[in-house]
Amino acid sequence: MCRGGRPTGRIATLQQHRLARKGRAASLEDSTISLSSVKSYPMGRITTSLIATAYRFVVRPILFKRDPEVAHKKITSLGERIGQRRLPLSILRFLFGTRSSRLKKVVAGIEFPSPIGLAAGFDYQAKLPWVLEALGFGFATVGTITNRPCLGNPRPWLARLVKSQSLLVNKGFKNDGIVKTLPRLRHLPTGMPVGLSIGQTNTSEIDTESQAINDIVECFKYAESHKYDCRYYELNISCPNVQKHISFYTPSSLSKLLECLEKVNTTRPIFIKCPISVTDAELINIADTTSKYSIVSGLVIGNLQRDRNHPSLRKEELVKCGPGNLSGRPTRDRSTELIKIVRSKYGQRFAIIGCGGVFSIEDAEAKFAAGADLVQLITGLIFQGPQLVAQINGELVK
Ligand SMILES: Cc1cc2nc3c(=O)[nH]c(=O)nc-3n(C[C@H](O)[C@H](O)[C@H](O)COP(=O)(O)O)c2cc1C
Repeated sequence: MCRGGRPTGRIATLQQHRLARKGRAASLEDSTISLSSVKSYPMGRITTSLIATAYRFVVRPILFKRDPEVAHKKITSLGERIGQRRLPLSILRFLFGTRSSRLKKVVAGIEFPSPIGLAAGFDYQAKLPWVLEALGFGFATVGTITNRPCLGNPRPWLARLVKSQSLLVNKGFKNDGIVKTLPRLRHLPTGMPVGLSIGQTNTSEIDTESQAINDIVECFKYAESHKYDCRYYELNISCPNVQKHISFYTPSSLSKLLECLEKVNTTRPIFIKCPISVTDAELINIADTTSKYSIVSGLVIGNLQRDRNHPSLRKEELVKCGPGNLSGRPTRDRSTELIKIVRSKYGQRFAIIGCGGVFSIEDAEAKFAAGADLVQLITGLIFQGPQLVAQINGELVK
């Protein structure tokens, strides 16, 4: 970012956003940025820029030649192996681990070492927390996990739309189920909060609202009755890729679900993962309903873009793809708009996690300026490389 010289145009606007964010954060009761000792990320901007360039011109072209699922499997298995070894983890921490008291935030009673985290869906098997912590992530949501194991939708699950800066996602909650996944969450890095995303089992056997509620509540009950280290839940009511889409967007169905969840007496804060392909009024309905339940601490805004005519999409890329919904650039502006609406209407009632189309410090700043306390990403990591979070952290501490 602009250092020395006079800030102009977009950079000046970003600096105003930063000041506004710092001012707002200082006024939050439950959200603080400590201004004591600052330690910039050790390898600095030059190293991360070099890694970004190497990723863009060498690693990414190789990865992107592979089928997206195969590439994801390879990366997950590499990340898992690195996460089990001290030396590679220490090297990653040295390169990327920005730990500055200036990045710290307390949101919903949890201390986040950085406000930049991983969104649900990338680590759906809960195998990557250790490597994510070493890469500088301030938190990570694993899952979405369901009560029963899910095979997912018929393939293909993923497609890359490189020019549109987006991924087409059609996984439909492929996951091992809560029973098999939970043991992986017993030993997590202490320095990075991990959250568990829970959704409704994606099966044609569940086709009524009460079955769906029972399924979700059973999953929460199972999680609560076992010992594991997760710090928060995300309740995913907005996955657009499930077989029988039982909607919890109306006040009556969402209230029924939340009333049942209240009885579980969850010991961790719950964030509701919201849709973005809805009207303002529909999102306000969701926020109005959830605001009445003290178990809901915050909203994640939001999930994938359903609109295949979104102006950021290149038609020639999309016509080759099957069913699914879109991440990345097509989610960016709508999620930011909705964050702004919720923050201005509900003040500090909700912690807000901004999610959608964050590829750079500018994108993250726009979410904070709109009112987000924390920011999550996936597609930016895949398109920009493993140094992205360190780069954003490095800019945030300035
Ligand atoms: C490959 C992939 C899988 C996803 N799976 C989930 C999921 O299981 N649960 C969920 O709540 N969101 C899921 N999402 C949505 C993301 O969490 C996020 O809301 C969306 O991708 C926008 O963020 P991004 O532009 O930074 O990727 C998935 C996204 C991607 C790209």
